[in-house]
Amino acid sequence: MLKQITVTVNGVQHTLEVEPRLLLVHMIREVLNLTGTHIGCDTSSCGACTILLDGKSIKSCTVLAVQANGKSITTIEGVAQNGELSPLQEGFKENHGLHCGFCTPGMILRATELLANNPNPTEEEIRWGIAGNLCRCTGYNNIVKAIQYAGAKMRGDELPSTEPEFV
Ligand code: FES
Ligand code: FES
Repeated sequence: MLKQITVTVNGVQHTLEVEPRLLLVHMIREVLNLTGTHIGCDTSSCGACTILLDGKSIKSCTVLAVQANGKSITTIEGVAQNGELSPLQEGFKENHGLHCGFCTPGMILRATELLANNPNPTEEEIRWGIAGNLCRCTGYNNIVKAIQYAGAKMRGDELPSTEPEFV
């Protein structure tokens, strides 16, 4: 039996009829066609499916669509504002924080909550903060730099060097 839910996704309200067993990540990708949210494992290990649910980063493969009823969702498609990259998107671009890009949407959503809670994290706090998000390509150093860059930009501090570190 289908359940009716109402969700606000990237600022747009949707009323949907979904199966109670439908995973939130499948609703986002297959019902709303927002394919920037990736599926890497389906077992809550990789973090590729990370989104914001009412501002909190969650792995959308571990949540049912019906659990998002009445809530607000942000996916990577909703991060840029008025055609401008967000500080984190700019940080990843400037610091070579991605290679294949498969992990990047999840990393950026996870880092969004990290910086919202801790605007000036240490390197160790960043590394712990993204510990649930796996990257098979970058070796993480440039991801850490990207998040440091975004933090500095959001605080209005001098931007760190964007000399990339290749591994
Ligand atoms: S697909 Fe959700 S954690 Fe890997
Ligand atoms: S850039 Fe390829 S998985 Fe992270």
